Amino acid sequence: MTLQKTIIAPSVLACDFSKLGDEIEAVVEAGADWIHLDVMDGHFVPNITFGAPIIKAVRNRTDKIFDCHLMIEPVDDFLAAFADAGCDIITVHVEATKHLDRTLQVIRDLGKKAGVSLNPHTPENIIEYVLDKIDLILLMSVNPGFGRQSFIPSVIEKTRKIKHMIGERPIDIEIDGGITPKTAPLVTAAGANVLVAGSAIFNGDGVKSYKKNIDDIRHAAKSFL
Ligand code: DX5
Ligand code: ZN
Repeated sequence: MTLQKTIIAPSVLACDFSKLGDEIEAVVEAGADWIHLDVMDGHFVPNITFGAPIIKAVRNRTDKIFDCHLMIEPVDDFLAAFADAGCDIITVHVEATKHLDRTLQVIRDLGKKAGVSLNPHTPENIIEYVLDKIDLILLMSVNPGFGRQSFIPSVIEKTRKIKHMIGERPIDIEIDGGITPKTAPLVTAAGANVLVAGSAIFNGDGVKSYKKNIDDIRHAAKSFL
């Protein structure tokens, strides 16, 4: 087995939105690999955050990958706007699109990486026949909508099954929700290589705290090896 570096993707959902651009710069300086952007519509999930114009406004703050998690329904009509805003990975929820195969194709045709997210209750076999159109699988380890929720352990088994299912395909497995130094090694041991964390990273005061928080998760994630 080749050892992969775990990618840490801080979710700006937990940052100070009054200085979003500065917070992105701070977390990049602290060692973030990707920036995770949680887009919520108050319809698919019971919360509203921000949309493409806000993402576009902060795009010039870093050249790190913008990992855009769309919790919106409908989603197809908005894909071009998020591509235009500068998102590199566009992830849709399988529960929020009727024609997943087409949605994934549209994302790739826009020149972006296509991600698909599964809620905690959604079985992994739903994506079996579109695996060749997927660049990233985002497994929710909380019910989407809010930060600071508790990790749902059933995602560990689901991660194992997904890892087995994708075989040699170059697909990232990302876990989102309740990731801390305690839960990180449970999912990396099961096959995840990207960890999203909001409240466990944007905690404390600026770069120094964020760096410690990222390092703690990164270190813990490796501890199963
Ligand atoms: C929840 C979001 C997550 C959230 C994670 O719907 O998708 O990205 O920010 O927050 P924590 O890390 O606090 O559980
Ligand atoms: Zn997310």
